[in-house]
Amino acid sequence: MVGTLEFEALSGELNGKIDLLPEDFDPTAVIAEPLPPVVENEATFNGEAKKGREIVLGRNVHTMCHAVTEPDADDEVTGEREAYMASVLARYRKSLIERTKHHLGYPYNLDFDYGALGQLQHFSINNLGDPFIESNYGVHSRQFEVGVLDWFARLWELEKNEYWGYITNCGTEGNLHGTTVKGAVDDLDLVIQTLEETGFTHDRFYIHCDGALFGLMMPFVKRAPKVSFKKPIGSVSVSGHKFVGCPMPCGVQITRLEHINALSRNVEYLASRDATIMGSRNGHAPIFLWYTLNRKGYRGFQKEVQKCLRNAYYLKDRLRAAGIGAMLNELSSTVVFERPQDEEFVRRWQLACQGNIAHVVVMPNITIEKLDDFLNELVEKRSTWFQDGKAQPPCISSDVGKENCACALHK
Ligand SMILES: Cc1ncc(COP(=O)(O)O)c(C=O)c1O
Repeated sequence: MVGTLEFEALSGELNGKIDLLPEDFDPTAVIAEPLPPVVENEATFNGEAKKGREIVLGRNVHTMCHAVTEPDADDEVTGEREAYMASVLARYRKSLIERTKHHLGYPYNLDFDYGALGQLQHFSINNLGDPFIESNYGVHSRQFEVGVLDWFARLWELEKNEYWGYITNCGTEGNLHGTTVKGAVDDLDLVIQTLEETGFTHDRFYIHCDGALFGLMMPFVKRAPKVSFKKPIGSVSVSGHKFVGCPMPCGVQITRLEHINALSRNVEYLASRDATIMGSRNGHAPIFLWYTLNRKGYRGFQKEVQKCLRNAYYLKDRLRAAGIGAMLNELSSTVVFERPQDEEFVRRWQLACQGNIAHVVVMPNITIEKLDDFLNELVEKRSTWFQDGKAQPPCISSDVGKENCACALHK
């Protein structure tokens, strides 16, 4: 289930223990909060091709590169090299702070504090191989990894002794795992029903659920369709750096143990059976995930989901009120709207764009205040883009539907 995956409320053991998003949940109620070189592509604007960031495959751009240079012989004595590197890093850190403030377009939750884990950067933690089989390499974090996997297996209703999985380097690795990629689906129940009606028995199809972002949002929304291993699915994956808010790319992959037993092979030098895709795996990631899951728990994620859905409604409504074409799918926190006409603006807010549309993915770090800043700036800029009346906002009805378009024809 790519992108629009919708997970249903937790049932069974979890249901009843936490307050799931209620039927009468009012997404329009606002929750107040305290306060590289770019590739270009083209969009059309009033029928004209508008020069944007150009995508050139194979081009090797070096304009923003921090060169690695050989140390001078006396650098160790003078400390110049250390001072130089410290200044580059300080500038980089400052730019990261700025970029984090203005980030809106990608589904990454940038709201976290992992200060307590800083001490672990001194260790080379590597979880190479199968997390359930001891390896000869001792500096690993498998005890955290398995704890995290258990949490997700419980979320998707698979018994501890019936699953296999690992913390991947990203959601995509989970999607690629093994022979599992047989397609992505949005409406799981409909897919299963269609397969069954076509005469397929459960042993003759394999469904992998790609829950990159929504895999951790939809379990907390009552009306969303449910992904559960009680249904005939083979595997589920999510990204760890998206809704969870892990500071490094990572993912979680859970599959039925029976599938992995068929795939496993011996890798002698690790002294372990290895069904993972990569050789080495980030051993810090499971600890960061474990830390967040412990701090937030199911309840914490549920609250964050509610906040995101409400704030997404707020953004959509304010865009529409400002006469800007915008759409928000039900149970989604991705607001699609008319592409801003100024690439500088797009870059500043790190919006993801395609053709004449852009989107903001409302994540837990995106507050009402941040959305207000964005909206105020957009409305102000827009008045200059369209000031002389010659230029009109583009028609985006083919992307968002006539009812959501605010072009001259549809407003
Ligand atoms: C539906 C879906 N699948 C997979 C991915 C890729 O995830 P990752 O960046 O963790 O590889 C994304 C990224 O946004 C996505 O939306």
